[in-house]
Amino acid sequence: MNVELPHYTDQTPEVKKRFDELKSRKVILDIQNLNRVFETGDGEVVALKNINFKAYRREFVCVVGPSGCGKSTFIRILAGLDEPTSGQVLVDGNSVSGPGPDRGMVFQRYTLFPWLTVKQNVMFGLEMSNHSKTESESQALQWIDLVGLEKFANAYPDQLSGGMRQRVAIARALANRPRILLMDEPFGALDAQTRCQMQSYLMQIWRNVDITIVFITHDLDESLYLADRVLVLKANPGEVQEIIEVPVPRPRNPDQFVSPEFLATKKHLDTLIHPQDDEEKDDLPIMRMTNVGDEVE
Ligand SMILES: Nc1ncnc2c1ncn2[C@@H]1O[C@H](COP(=O)(O)OP(=O)(O)O)[C@@H](O)[C@H]1O
Ligand SMILES: [Mg+2]
Repeated sequence: MNVELPHYTDQTPEVKKRFDELKSRKVILDIQNLNRVFETGDGEVVALKNINFKAYRREFVCVVGPSGCGKSTFIRILAGLDEPTSGQVLVDGNSVSGPGPDRGMVFQRYTLFPWLTVKQNVMFGLEMSNHSKTESESQALQWIDLVGLEKFANAYPDQLSGGMRQRVAIARALANRPRILLMDEPFGALDAQTRCQMQSYLMQIWRNVDITIVFITHDLDESLYLADRVLVLKANPGEVQEIIEVPVPRPRNPDQFVSPEFLATKKHLDTLIHPQDDEEKDDLPIMRMTNVGDEVE
């Protein structure tokens, strides 16, 4: 079946208006001429080359690219867990020089303290930043409510499903009121159904909190479902290949996975990330290992 798709840069007036409004907001994340070179035994690896990007207040940005293109290095630098070789990152106008409460982080692997309850895990960061115990507890319970886990406040992480643990990780990251939430393939270890549910939870949370999100994924559907803009990186060296304004209207819902604008953008992203290699043909050589009378198509 051949369906005529729009061009992925075509935007309805409503979507265009949304982007105009988005870009009139304050810049929360400003990445300037970012480079990261690793010295290895086999020579230099240019993990990130001359990255420039700005994210606006309450924007949802997804970062996609092939394995090894520098996605984790990128988010680690934003988190202050790694340093650029040159260039700088500003969060709300302040230069990043290490981890700080203005950035929350959620990783793919579970990072909750297994010996603490859900409530104690969320309280942990609050108590570290000098909130009283009573204050920390009441704030923690609000964030636990926000991620829909009020019935599990006294449960331990190993009593929760993978999706629920990631919701606690999100509550814990948000409890310190960061300006940016940094997420490195946070749903990558979850099964397909839980992943879809988590995407919808995350969008509900994002709607209710003043937070700018930078979300790394290698799942193109996920990026188009969640993001306002998708930052596409390419590998060797890790450079910005394209910044795509996702033309799918908000609020998003799963029906849009098959909308013309979604499919058109996905097709374009696919050609950027999986360029058709001449060496790599879809057709296999014909080697028949079966007998007559059993045609399957
Ligand atoms: N600590 C390190 N030392 C040397 N090379 C590294 C280090 N971290 C990452 N790299 C290299 O930098 C490139 C980007 O890695 P990474 O950021 O993990 O990519 P991605 O998350 O997109 O898969 C890869 O070639 C990787 O081998
Ligand atoms: Mg990675």
